[in-house]
Amino acid sequence: MKVTVCGAAGGIGQPLSLLLKLSPLVDELSLFDVVNAPGVGADLSHIDTNAKVTSHLPDDNGLAKALNGTDLVIIPAGVPRKPGMTRDDLFAINAGIVRDLAQGVAENAPNAFVLVISNPVNSTVPIFAEVLKKNGVFNARKLFGVTTLDLVRANTFISQLDSSNKIKPSNLNVPVIGGHSGETIVPLFSLGAPEFYKSLDDEQRDALVHRVQYGGDEVVQAKKGAGSATLSMAYSGFKLAEELIESINGKHSFVDSSFIYLSDEIEGAKEAKQLINNESINYISLPVKLGPRGVESIEYDVLNKINDHEKELLSTAIDQLTTNISKGVNFIKNQA
Ligand code: NAD
Ligand code: LMR
Repeated sequence: MKVTVCGAAGGIGQPLSLLLKLSPLVDELSLFDVVNAPGVGADLSHIDTNAKVTSHLPDDNGLAKALNGTDLVIIPAGVPRKPGMTRDDLFAINAGIVRDLAQGVAENAPNAFVLVISNPVNSTVPIFAEVLKKNGVFNARKLFGVTTLDLVRANTFISQLDSSNKIKPSNLNVPVIGGHSGETIVPLFSLGAPEFYKSLDDEQRDALVHRVQYGGDEVVQAKKGAGSATLSMAYSGFKLAEELIESINGKHSFVDSSFIYLSDEIEGAKEAKQLINNESINYISLPVKLGPRGVESIEYDVLNKINDHEKELLSTAIDQLTTNISKGVNFIKNQA
């Protein structure tokens, strides 16, 4: 299993690469960044685990070398937010970065699985897909926008409200659907922690949902201009990567939420669109079953089970998501 990290020298890239270097599931770890990849690579290469580390800068065809023969590409490349910015404000810089990395993947690793972390995820995943489509190598089962941090936060934040300390975050698996930005983030506490959720009044419930939707801002503000979530993101990105690798290897099959393209070829996609009541929405984060091909099926049944309040949240999410998706798609379509 060769894993390539693009943006490996950054705030997320470094701890994510460390976790991958520690994993027995990884045989080769390939680091790519526009700066400092060799430094990070030299440092990690001293760790006495089996994964072989290589590092690459753009010169001398570095991206092609980094991607050649890779099975999984993880992309935390791009600029993070500063206080006062939205994720959409990052589009101006990150859209071009993600487009160029997608072109590199299309040319050098067209069969690889790809996890996109770079923000705004609601737009960067459509950008990535459009570039792969232009190159005739798009496979919806293999492209994932990483929204795992929203699930991680949902598990953590609800457990923090439980003064009896009976709810342990590591025992929870709160599904979070929609997208990865503000009101597009829809945590389904009624399904993930039903008993405790019932005990909350409307004000507590709204505050909890708001905290998950704007959890990223807490970190951005606390870091005071020095970036956004990196360590919790590295943990979350590694969690999804590990589940995916184990699923590709056929060891276990996991269900986790991820932002994906609702291709009609994928089991459950049509049902999901019908239940969302919006046939034109083609990207969304939903629970997906992972397997050797990547996304095996979309576990749409959560949409049958959500309560009226969560339906309202989803409807607001879909409106915003539609705008974010179009922005990404048009960015590529409008280029020669
Ligand atoms: P950072 O600035 O610390 O690191 C980004 C790295 O990307 C830098 O090392 C930079 O040199 C590199 N880079 C820039 N252009 C590149 C290119 N063309 N090719 C390869 N590498 C390139 O930022 P960070 O804190 O690591 O965040 C990275 C991105 O991840 C941001 O867009 C941020 O908003 C996003 N993010 C997403 C989530 C999520 O849940 N999906 C969570 C946290 C952060
Ligand atoms: C997060 O959710 O922490 C990330 O998307 C980074 C950000 O900009 O908030």
